Amino acid sequence: MEKNSLLKVKVVPNAPLLVEGTVELILSDGTTVVKENPHLCRCGASGNKPYCDGSHTKIGFRG
Ligand code: FES
Repeated sequence: MEKNSLLKVKVVPNAPLLVEGTVELILSDGTTVVKENPHLCRCGASGNKPYCDGSHTKIGFRG
């Protein structure tokens, strides 16, 4: 994986963080996964953290 590629992260109102590009995520258990364009939860309600599972709409997340 190229280490110096520029990634974009879009902050969209009332929504997850939209990452544009391929990223290597290091999870809380130390495992790594490679994902393309992941949507990362920022509301805290996802049942599939660190990814968004759509729960932000159910809880009325505003941010
Ligand atoms: S931002 Fe979508 S579940 Fe948290």
